[in-house]
Amino acid sequence: MLEALKAQPQDKILQLIQMFKDDPRTDKIDLGVGVYKDATGLTPVMRAIKAAEKKIWETQDTKTYTALTGEPGYNMAMRKLILGDAVAADRLSSIATPGGTGAVRLGVDLAKMFNPGATVWVSRPTWGNHISIIKFVGLPVAEYRYFNAESGEVDFAAVKADLGQVKPGDVVLLHGCCHNPTGANLTLDQWQEVIAILKDRQAFPMVDLAYQGFGDGLDQDAAPTRMIAQAFPELLIAASCSKNFGVYRDRAGVLVAVSADAAQAEITQGNLSFLNRQTYSFPPDHGIRAVMTVLDDPALEADWKEELEVTRSGMLGLRAQLAEELRRATNTDRFDFVARHRGMFSLLGLTEAQVMRLREEFGIYMVSDSRINIAGLNAATVPVLARAVAEVIR
Ligand code: LMR
Repeated sequence: MLEALKAQPQDKILQLIQMFKDDPRTDKIDLGVGVYKDATGLTPVMRAIKAAEKKIWETQDTKTYTALTGEPGYNMAMRKLILGDAVAADRLSSIATPGGTGAVRLGVDLAKMFNPGATVWVSRPTWGNHISIIKFVGLPVAEYRYFNAESGEVDFAAVKADLGQVKPGDVVLLHGCCHNPTGANLTLDQWQEVIAILKDRQAFPMVDLAYQGFGDGLDQDAAPTRMIAQAFPELLIAASCSKNFGVYRDRAGVLVAVSADAAQAEITQGNLSFLNRQTYSFPPDHGIRAVMTVLDDPALEADWKEELEVTRSGMLGLRAQLAEELRRATNTDRFDFVARHRGMFSLLGLTEAQVMRLREEFGIYMVSDSRINIAGLNAATVPVLARAVAEVIR
């Protein structure tokens, strides 16, 4: 029977991890998967997480099941981190999920349960796994144009035109901040316009918030999500702790639902818990508990915020340096957008052939659509990348 299975295409981002490992060159540069790296190339366990893990190790006296939702305290802390006090607490429901991907997957599952006729709209481009997950769940995907590859900015006229085609009840997947893969983001005024269009179209918004704290700050990055939560009676948010708490492999995410009122929120909660039960019963606990321990302890929380801020400002510094070096190396302002982008990624707008040359001739690894992970750079490798890019576009 197994011969009925077809070979699956490899994930474009994840296959880079192995290719990079297999490259024997010592001066190779990894700008592939979205993992933060410090100037020495290390993805550190954050200080506050390490302290929280110690605290857990010292105090935990059982590993019995918690709740289908995952630890309730984690859910509360994450709702607050994401939404602040934008929405009345009794309208919220949530479940812990294995990472942000788990939250996206169960969010799409839930969408199929409440509207099997929905089309799910994603930005073009978007994180490749969005499209793959939606299709796998069995809902049709539609794309709204998002990016002008020439200017490196959001093509806002196209965004508005395409979102104007959304049908009532369709789900529109939005990147809450730090757009992946482009790095180009809407201004708050543009978000207001998008909200007005989506309300007019009676769309159902779903926000993917995988990089809160990596763009302009924790609250600033949550601002569009909070605006949407205030404007719509209903909303789904798939959030990740992988990046901002650095707990990648521990798989800590959350799926938050905003319902129209408290009675509906209870029913929504029951459905979210049901989804966890059907998929894997209890979500993994370790990373979730470490995150909760950090957010519940003012000293650890302050230390986490401080380290996150260093991470964020480091990436901004690298952006400024890269834009400057690209200007010098190419003698043009073509890549100035790199400094204006936010988050871990920028889409450089190179052809696939140019990306291949960078990989083969220079040992510089980026996703084939020319997405780079800014955090894969350091002060020494920025000029190396700039010179190589100048060479392949010559
Ligand atoms: C990325 O976009 O590189 C990250 O979200 C990691 C992943 O799972 O693809």
